[in-house]
Amino acid sequence: MIKENALDRRLSVAPMMDWTDRHCRYFLRQLSRHTLLYTEMVTTGALLHGDRARFLDYHPGEKPVAIQLGGSNPTDLAKCASFAQSHGYDEVNLNVGCPSDRVQEGRIGACLMAEPQTVADCIKAMQDEVSIPVTVKHRIGINGRDSWDELCEFVGTIADTGCKTFIAHARIAILEGLNPKENREIPPLKYDVVYKLKQTFPDLEIIINGGIQTLEQTQEHLKHVDGVMIGREAYNNPYILAAADKLIFDRDVDETDRHDVLAAMYPYIEHEMSQGVRLNHMTRHLLGLFQGLPGARRFRRYISENAHRPEASVDTLKQAAALVNC
Ligand SMILES: Cc1cc2nc3c(=O)[nH]c(=O)nc-3n(C[C@H](O)[C@H](O)[C@H](O)COP(=O)(O)O)c2cc1C
Repeated sequence: MIKENALDRRLSVAPMMDWTDRHCRYFLRQLSRHTLLYTEMVTTGALLHGDRARFLDYHPGEKPVAIQLGGSNPTDLAKCASFAQSHGYDEVNLNVGCPSDRVQEGRIGACLMAEPQTVADCIKAMQDEVSIPVTVKHRIGINGRDSWDELCEFVGTIADTGCKTFIAHARIAILEGLNPKENREIPPLKYDVVYKLKQTFPDLEIIINGGIQTLEQTQEHLKHVDGVMIGREAYNNPYILAAADKLIFDRDVDETDRHDVLAAMYPYIEHEMSQGVRLNHMTRHLLGLFQGLPGARRFRRYISENAHRPEASVDTLKQAAALVNC
């Protein structure tokens, strides 16, 4: 186990555009105190030229929280890392894993796996600017550049800057022909490649990502790597996180009941609504809470049909919860 960074990354929830916004993260935090949460990717362009305060905003109760940046200009990234540090983020992560056409045009994401030195320059520039950890999220390769040696060159070049933490999505990205969704499903998962990365670079903190769905699987991966990042399953079936503090972080706590998790959201939702946030912008992240239980569909449907109405309030959520008997 790597001890140099104070952040405990044994379990984290992945950055997911449109999904892991601040409301989602506040909700996930009610399920696990210690799981590290990542923001959606924010591009340097958005932070430098857009509504910066809005992009950086989060609730202190979400912490520990890492911001993910998208960009390839070292000066811009350094400035954005500095904004993130000033706002109290616990980590800055660079996206070198997203394969969408749109980000490729901006030289953002997985296409940067072909340019290890550019990524190293970006990481170095950010490290020179901030004292919080700067980490990389990447694939195990891209089409045309998917050999073991190329992966080692990529990781090694970046590690030379002093970067210690690498989050490896255990599949390659195919930059032409597959859309982002297909790129999360079609290229096969190769966990053994990520395990081998840890063996080859034992001093680095290697976090594995891709297709992991349970804490039992997490525990299995932790025998080979330093941490596990879960994406889709944590969003679609968030209650899997409820036992994380006990099972993954070794804390002597019991999992919170689903209804108590929901009740913990009520004051937050009321406050956010008083600030003009619409109920359904928050409740959309709660739909999977009762996944697998009798009444889960009724819960989802009630929220979907009612949370957007002008008169909707936290009572709408309470009425939805009353439809689930557990
Ligand atoms: C809706 C959605 C949005 C995503 N957005 C991002 C993103 O902004 N940055 C990123 O690095 N990865 C993004 N990803 C990829 C995830 O972080 C993760 O690497 C991928 O889903 C594989 O993990 P999983 O199988 O546990 O979901 C996204 C995935 C999904 C499903």
